[in-house]
Amino acid sequence: MSLSPFPHIDFRTLRNYDFQCLNKIPNSRFDVKFSNKFRQTTRTITKAQGSSCIEVRGVEYRAPGTHHNLLQNINFSIPERSLGLIFGKSGSGKTTLLQLLSGLSKPTSGTICIQRYRSNDGSPIEPPESLSPNRVGIVFQFPERYFVADTILEEVTFGWPANTSREQLALKLQNAFNSVGLHNISMEESPHNLSGGYKRRLALAIQLVETPDLLLLDEPLAGLDWKARADVVRLLKHLKKEVTLLVVSHDLKEFSGLVDHSWKMEMGGNLREEPLPFYK
Ligand SMILES: Nc1ncnc2c1ncn2[C@@H]1O[C@H](COP(=O)(O)OP(=O)(O)OP(=O)(O)O)[C@@H](O)[C@H]1O
Ligand SMILES: [Mg+2]
Repeated sequence: MSLSPFPHIDFRTLRNYDFQCLNKIPNSRFDVKFSNKFRQTTRTITKAQGSSCIEVRGVEYRAPGTHHNLLQNINFSIPERSLGLIFGKSGSGKTTLLQLLSGLSKPTSGTICIQRYRSNDGSPIEPPESLSPNRVGIVFQFPERYFVADTILEEVTFGWPANTSREQLALKLQNAFNSVGLHNISMEESPHNLSGGYKRRLALAIQLVETPDLLLLDEPLAGLDWKARADVVRLLKHLKKEVTLLVVSHDLKEFSGLVDHSWKMEMGGNLREEPLPFYK
């Protein structure tokens, strides 16, 4: 069964990224009824003048049915368009924190918000806005394991809301694919045939289509060869100019050249700011 929302399209016409041809699709073809957390739609917000930070204040988390907190009084903030890195031992709570930030689970206490600051004097604009899960993209560890479609186009448009206009769709796809350097790949290609690095690019493009305020990446280099790892690091260095990134990784050396802020998650779920070691 085809998962394509565009079953009538000859995908060969998209070989050279002729996104114009998407304009020929009648709106009814966008009637894709399902969506899930891997394909969450996000909404672009107009950035107010001044700067903003994603701020996590006093967040604690206890899994349902358990008696101890997995995360303890987490406080940190990430300025917009910067890259934050969280590292720490296996089982310390890094992925649990990303799940809270993405809205997959709810904190037991504390807040996750966007705080805006005035451009003239840097003072906070009150009240802070709570960070909607719709504005957060998440790329899970080994995202290629969740690919479900037969073509790249189907994969990236899977779960899109029915009311997306053809023009919006064409433009958003083009922007996302340009951002991750996927413009030379045929959209009729199977996502499973891509190289490891290109699969990660596709996973990023899927999340970038709706320009999230925050993009979370859980172990983005895991399982890649050295060339693909360097490729993804280069890509993230470029992407942080466009979107705020929070990365969980054990690969401190590879990220050291692009990290703006870093934190260590201690066993038991305590997060503290810690600069990365200096690497030559
Ligand atoms: N739903 C749950 N109920 C109870 N305990 C849980 C639940 N989810 C996760 N945990 C526990 O929370 C702790 C943190 O898990 P988490 O996956 O966040 O760690 P991590 O830092 O991402 O580890 P890794 O580096 O191996 O990915 C672990 O001890 C895990 O067993
Ligand atoms: Mg983890």
